This record gives sequence, C-alpha cells and structure tokens, in this order.
Amino acid sequence: PDGLRELLLSRIADVPDYPKQGVVFKDITPLLADPAAFGALTDAFVSLCERYEADKVVGLEARGFILAAPVAVRAGIGFVPVRKAGKLPGATLRQAYDLEYGAAEIEIHADALAPGDRVLVIDDVLATGGTAEASLELVRRAGAEVAGVAVLLELGFLAGRQRLGPGLKGAPLESLITV
Ligand code: PRP
Ligand code: MG
Repeated sequence: PDGLRELLLSRIADVPDYPKQGVVFKDITPLLADPAAFGALTDAFVSLCERYEADKVVGLEARGFILAAPVAVRAGIGFVPVRKAGKLPGATLRQAYDLEYGAAEIEIHADALAPGDRVLVIDDVLATGGTAEASLELVRRAGAEVAGVAVLLELGFLAGRQRLGPGLKGAPLESLITV
C-alpha cells in the first residue's frame, strides 16, 4: 500500500556527503528506532516470503541482518547469514564482487542450505547490485533455489536492477521503495 511506502520513506534520513563528498547516504536508523515502521517493514517482507513460498531467509551483513532476522522469526522459517569473508567458523563458499574502489568477498556456510530450499534474500539497499549479485551466486552454489530478492530501498539511478537482471534468472526483485 502507498501508506507503507510513505511511512518507510519518512523514516529514512538523507545524509549528504557521507561517507564521502557527493554521496547521499541513506540512514535507516530512524526506521529501526520506530517500532511501527520497523514492524510494518517486517510484515511487508513476511508477505513476500509467503507470496514466493520461501522456506529460508538469507540476510546480507551487516544492515541486511537487522532487517532479515525478524522476518525469519515472524515467517516461522530459518535465517541464514551471508557474512563478510573471514567471519564464519565452518566450511564456507566464498564469492568476490566489485566495489566502487577495489573488491570485497562474502561467504556462506557450505551446509547452510540444501537442494530444494527456496531462499528469499533480504538487504536494506540495492545500489550497484554487486552485493546482491554475489549473494545469489552463493545461494545457488550452496545448492538452493532463489525464490526472490527483497530490499527496502532501490537506488534506481545506479542501475542495480539492470546489473542483477541475468543473475536473477527469472526470480523477482522486490523493492519497497525506489528512488
Ligand atoms: C551497503 C548496503 C548494501 C550494499 C548495496 O552495504 O547495506 O548491502 O551496500 O550496495 P551495492 O548494491 O552497490 O552492492 P555495505 O557493504 O556498505 O555494508 P554494511 O551493510 O555492512 O553496512
Ligand atoms: Mg550492506
């Protein structure tokens, strides 16, 4: 509903010139501090779990963890973390991706997902799409199916949707807000 979009948008603060000159940072901490907005966001993601018949939620470190964990609990399905490289203790699968400057790596426990699992990947922001793209590789390499990708905020001008297109392989990309 439109009221949801307005509520969520009103709780995301624009911070100019952070983390560097010319970038407008999208700060979700006001949303997290408002239980009505955080609850409505969680409900919206839970609805997507139901619509796409997800049986696991994957959250992307770090901000994706905050949004995805309550969704998993409320949906009654498991939460699986995708972490920055070097943080998971067990055997992992690792995927590199490009940042604006340089590169980064993320990991998932190799045994965290099973064939037949349908995964909804949740993160706060879709910017260039590099993080989400790498996470989809991990989900598939771990043997599961991508039920969909859901983000709170899509930065349309960075064309992450276009970059992610092939990697979605037909799975839906749902953004609650696009700017
Ligand atoms: C931010 C954001 C998304 C990602 C989007 O995470 O939370 O995960 O960037 O960018 P992309 O679409 O261009 O990949 P960041 O890596 O800054 O770290 P954090 O979540 O740990 O704060
Ligand atoms: Mg992040």
